Amino acid sequence: MRSRLDPTGLTSFLYGVPYYPEHWESELRAGDPALLAGAGFNVVRMAEFAWDLMEAEEGGYDFSLFDETIAAMAARGLQTILCTPTAAPPRWLSAAYPEILRIDEKGVPQVHGSRQHASHFSPVFREHSRAITTAMATHFKDNPHVIGWQTDNEFHCHFAQDHCVDAQRDFREFLRGKYGNDIARLNAAWGTRFWSQTYQDFSEIETPKNNRPTHGNPSQVLDYHRFLSFGATRFQREQIEILRSANPRWWITHNGCFPSIDFRGPFTGDLDFLSYDSYPFFDYDPETRRYSHAFNLDYVRGYSGNFVVMEQQSGPGGQSDYLHDTPEPGEMRRMAYTGIARGADGILFFRERSCRFGAEAYWCGILDHDNVPRRRYHEAAQLGAELRSVGSAIMGSHVVCDIGIAGADFDSHYGHLPLSHGLPTPRQAAEGIHTFFHKKKHAVGIVHPEDDLSGLGVYILPHIAQFKPEWVSALEAFVAKGGTLIIGARTAAKDVNNHVIPETLPGCLRALAGITVEEFGKQNAPEKRPLVMACGDARIRTTLWYERLQAVDAQTEVIATWHTRHLAASPAITVRPHGRGRTVYVGSYFNDDLLEAVYGWLSRNGHLPTGHAYPATVEVVQRRRADGGHVTFLIHHGGEPVTVSIEGKDLISGKMNDTLRLEQNDVAVVVDDRA
Ligand code: GAL
Repeated sequence: MRSRLDPTGLTSFLYGVPYYPEHWESELRAGDPALLAGAGFNVVRMAEFAWDLMEAEEGGYDFSLFDETIAAMAARGLQTILCTPTAAPPRWLSAAYPEILRIDEKGVPQVHGSRQHASHFSPVFREHSRAITTAMATHFKDNPHVIGWQTDNEFHCHFAQDHCVDAQRDFREFLRGKYGNDIARLNAAWGTRFWSQTYQDFSEIETPKNNRPTHGNPSQVLDYHRFLSFGATRFQREQIEILRSANPRWWITHNGCFPSIDFRGPFTGDLDFLSYDSYPFFDYDPETRRYSHAFNLDYVRGYSGNFVVMEQQSGPGGQSDYLHDTPEPGEMRRMAYTGIARGADGILFFRERSCRFGAEAYWCGILDHDNVPRRRYHEAAQLGAELRSVGSAIMGSHVVCDIGIAGADFDSHYGHLPLSHGLPTPRQAAEGIHTFFHKKKHAVGIVHPEDDLSGLGVYILPHIAQFKPEWVSALEAFVAKGGTLIIGARTAAKDVNNHVIPETLPGCLRALAGITVEEFGKQNAPEKRPLVMACGDARIRTTLWYERLQAVDAQTEVIATWHTRHLAASPAITVRPHGRGRTVYVGSYFNDDLLEAVYGWLSRNGHLPTGHAYPATVEVVQRRRADGGHVTFLIHHGGEPVTVSIEGKDLISGKMNDTLRLEQNDVAVVVDDRA
């Protein structure tokens, strides 16, 4: 199992663009290698949507455009990442074999004319996927300029579900394997006694389409998402095996991270590292964007450690009915630095030049449609020059965090969705907490409960209803060594089958928390029937959920009580010592007021790791190198300039142990003595 602390294993920083030679006339193409080299790029990614060109008719392969482009790029010092082109199957394939088409949850087959319309469960599509992968692998295996591969492109980015005939068959086989061909085991795991859903045989089972009168079976839905993850993993593995046997020196990645794939599971285990496509402007609010961007990157790193940003927003992105704000001068470079600070071992700006046709004609790249280099190109060139020193300073390092939040768990996310009761997903809950601590200037990150918890001072389990008892012993050890574990309401309420556990809550966490949950409830109109907690002098309005707690014995200290209505005077937040640490249990869903109260308590009691002392408009992230040295990124988001002092050398300005004036969007990258 990978850790958030793992580097990618790349030895030099990748800097480049996805490049689409199939979109350009030969005269334009001829000038591109020099233009791209001029920006300091060292890599291009190609071919993910070029299947129709490489195999214009079944079995007739022609890779000449890519041979030519790879060579021209290499002559200017740019290496190539190739992609298997299976996200955009050619028309001849769906025309000759319409059975490859995916069927959506309403039962509608997809058609040619967009992308991602073929099924990962179709044996015919899988055969053609293997054939084009084999043809590409064989053709390019001795090309020294092809350094690695991306499988497909953003599996499940448009939608994840598939209900075609092949998916139905494979779902039954998947379940047969999972439940040892024992239908009684499946019935028990799915709780089919409820609403008379009992199956006599695996052949009777169907995928959970949405043509049903009301809500489906939540255990079946969870298994279906696991099955979709299995399907993408199997499809990808077939490509990976071909690529690895053609040339074992190639590294292989995939640009996630989209629904219904378990990115902590074998999908990522099969890769050398995970990649991520970062488009911060999908958050349309310029005030929250900084925080959602940071959270998304930290969330991805929580899966498997450092990553490559295979597509980094450069200009505004636009598809049919939307067009983002245009990043202002300096923002493109600043966003890239946030990615690098938070774990990217490579950045590729999407895309080279804005395409003049197709569904993304206004998805703007670093060059405009008229190919005149303007500010985005010059910013890319500035970053390219800086990366000569910054890139080498960070390779092999990991991102430092001392407050961890549990997130990025597949089962708890997909267990939540079919029984959400209008409550936030574990991911949404984690994002609120992450933003809170980020604003308080802490090094906060997303850490899976089974990952390495070392280095953390505080670890927060937000509201992870579906919780595995095998995670408890590492949490106990974390607390015993002096850590502060914070458990939010509803944690550990459900099991691996998405059933509610029979024990009194919080189930397997009762001993650590030292409480039982005696009553719980949703708050649907909190402004009309407020429930208020009293924590010292503070009065905290809760907004979503309440739990009336009871201490198991006198060792559990009550640090907040309910103050209103039928809950008055009952425990609301408790703390229980264990070894050198403690477990705090919070009987509600976190909101900012509640977080503020918990924060105050942590701070008063000396349980809070030290935050940074820079102005709040400066994003501060540290990467720790294997040699113990640190690289500290100071990224300025504010409109007014700030002055900061640094200890060490700023690789951007060259200043050492000095004060720096940071204008809006300015960045400093400070290496300490050992780095
Ligand atoms: C990504 C995708 C690209 C392109 C880009 C802009 O999600 O990988 O192919 O579509 O978004 O929409």
